[in-house]
Amino acid sequence: MKISHIIFFISLLLATFTLHAGDVDSGRTKSLTCGACHGPEGKSFNDHWPNLAGQKTGYIILQLKAFRDGSRYDPWMSPMATPLSDKEIKDLAAFYSSL
Ligand code: HEC
Repeated sequence: MKISHIIFFISLLLATFTLHAGDVDSGRTKSLTCGACHGPEGKSFNDHWPNLAGQKTGYIILQLKAFRDGSRYDPWMSPMATPLSDKEIKDLAAFYSSL
């Protein structure tokens, strides 16, 4: 296999990875409402609301989907997750894990 083919396949793999990963900037934009409780930089304002800064991407995605489908319930948090699309969840997870 020629070196140019190898480079082509590697770029293809990277492009695929990028397409599936969440977008940090979109997540930051979307996080404005979340920041009211979880803090603008993912550090919560009080003792009852969790910090999200630096949390694992996969864990955030699982929790947001659980709040959205009702398998995890909290009177504050559940209404926040209900309207989120899969893409918004991925972007928010990418943003908070990047902090
Ligand atoms: C009105 C306050 C409030 C807002 C706004 C809010 N949350 Fe939450 N969030 C909470 C509370 C309270 C919990 C803890 C719920 C529990 O105890 O189960 C929580 C939990 C979470 C968790 C799970 C954390 C963990 O460690 O398990 C994630 C992830 C999360 N919120 C993300 C978000 C995102 C993303 C947004 C914006 C779309 C958002 N929250 C908006 C109050 C809020």
